[in-house]
Amino acid sequence: MMIRSAYRGGRRLAHVLNRCHRSSSSAAAAASSASAASDKNIICACECPESCPQQCHNLLDTDRQHVIHPYTSMTDPLPTFPIKSAKGIHLKLNDGRKLIDGMSSWWAAVHGYRNPVLDNALKEQIESSMSHVMFGGLTHKPAVQLTTKLLQLANNIQDDSTDYHHFTKAFFSDSGSVSVEVAMKMALQYWFTLEQPSKTKFVSLRNGYHGDTLGAMSICDPVNGMHSMFSGVLAKQLFVSTPTGGMEEDGVQTIIEMKQLLEEHHEEIAAVVMEPIVQGAGGMRFYHPSVLRKVRELCDEYNVLLIFDEIATGFGRTGTMFASWQNESTYQPWYLTEGSSFSIINSEDKKISTNEIVNADILCLGKALTGGYMTLGATLTTDKVAHGISHNGGVFMHGPTFMANPLACSVSLASMGLLTSSPWEERVRNVENALIEHISPLSELDSVREVRVLGAIGVCELKEGLDRDGMARIQRALVEEGVWLRPFGKLLYTMPPFNCDELEDDHIKKIGEAMYKVVSSKPKA
Ligand SMILES: Cc1ncc(COP(=O)(O)O)c(C=O)c1O
Repeated sequence: MMIRSAYRGGRRLAHVLNRCHRSSSSAAAAASSASAASDKNIICACECPESCPQQCHNLLDTDRQHVIHPYTSMTDPLPTFPIKSAKGIHLKLNDGRKLIDGMSSWWAAVHGYRNPVLDNALKEQIESSMSHVMFGGLTHKPAVQLTTKLLQLANNIQDDSTDYHHFTKAFFSDSGSVSVEVAMKMALQYWFTLEQPSKTKFVSLRNGYHGDTLGAMSICDPVNGMHSMFSGVLAKQLFVSTPTGGMEEDGVQTIIEMKQLLEEHHEEIAAVVMEPIVQGAGGMRFYHPSVLRKVRELCDEYNVLLIFDEIATGFGRTGTMFASWQNESTYQPWYLTEGSSFSIINSEDKKISTNEIVNADILCLGKALTGGYMTLGATLTTDKVAHGISHNGGVFMHGPTFMANPLACSVSLASMGLLTSSPWEERVRNVENALIEHISPLSELDSVREVRVLGAIGVCELKEGLDRDGMARIQRALVEEGVWLRPFGKLLYTMPPFNCDELEDDHIKKIGEAMYKVVSSKPKA
């Protein structure tokens, strides 16, 4: 492995079907001229009169007054954009504007929108079987088949074998946050049944994000995870500093702190929880995979379970099927920090060998699990944990109403099939190269601290955080540029639908150009 100032040239993205070459400005122009034209049934602008056939006016009004959106004021919310439909790589607003989606709907829609294979999986499930049944006392094919597929994937089994060497069990829940709650409860019950009830605490990394439910929140970053607001009810957990900068040596301090914590408190610690190599909503930071191996060794040494939260990173986003599979030879982040750039270039063979994978005891999955079609979380675990929990007749105490929803399981199975039968690794590499090429110019801007790329994740970190007005301004400006991104805090980032047949270099170029334009433009007085 070597580290050097480097530019990895952009390779063309896979050739596309159904290209849309209409530029964002021509789309906007078309929208406004069409709305000015008499045929308002075709395209209407959000500012249209109350006679608007699509009722945008009423819709926005009711939305603003009564519908609560995420992370915004309940009385003076950030603006919303009414969306009419989504197809392939594009979102279509009610006013006719077509936006390139750079968010994959919070990183979930990895194949893009209205994929015929996924659409059919849902239709077929509804028409041939059922949309939902309770999972207590009943079981069904979509859940069983999905379990088999996930266990094969998580055990790195490439054929139809069910010779699982590590993960052997799957619990299906409603969402990513709930899959984290389930993982934490598994760890707690494991130690309780093994008569070590004092092991109730969790260790996690600062700047982590694991969800918005109370248990998950307790292991999010104690500062940006809003702990102060909920301090009276959140369980007190333990934190170690996060490795920053992406290099192997950046993880040294994390390991020193982790060792010290485990040495002093292992009798109270149930598990360590981490997002492997990419911390998502807590800061979009990358860290070296050697940290995972060292934490695994410490967990084994001090008799503590290890939980990997792959809700954001699972199913290919970083270039390997799971981010925790990255090793010294696969890990290739690219950084451009205030003028100086580096990239870790690996010349070694990038094969992942199953016996070198760092396995957690419990693995949390969500988001791309259904290709972004339905809400579903999965918590996988091992015979060791399962036998621990059910030792002496213990039962696992969780069971949501919509557990293993058949629609979600069937579309998830189709999504896994779509992923594994496509050249997704090559596509992630192409997106990565295109991101490096097209977002690197942002680093020239005075307001930018760092630009970084790993797999299909491109991040521009600003020096100053955006306030409410700044966020609304940038969001609106991005829409005017024909791109959908969601800025937050100091971050403007993109995680495009990397496995969408339509995605080409030009889309990433437009995302990069739009990011550059909105960051470089001065706010209007
Ligand atoms: C790493 C990670 N864990 C957990 C969650 C929570 O998932 P959900 O929003 O589906 O509850 C998220 C969501 O962004 C996440 O990125």
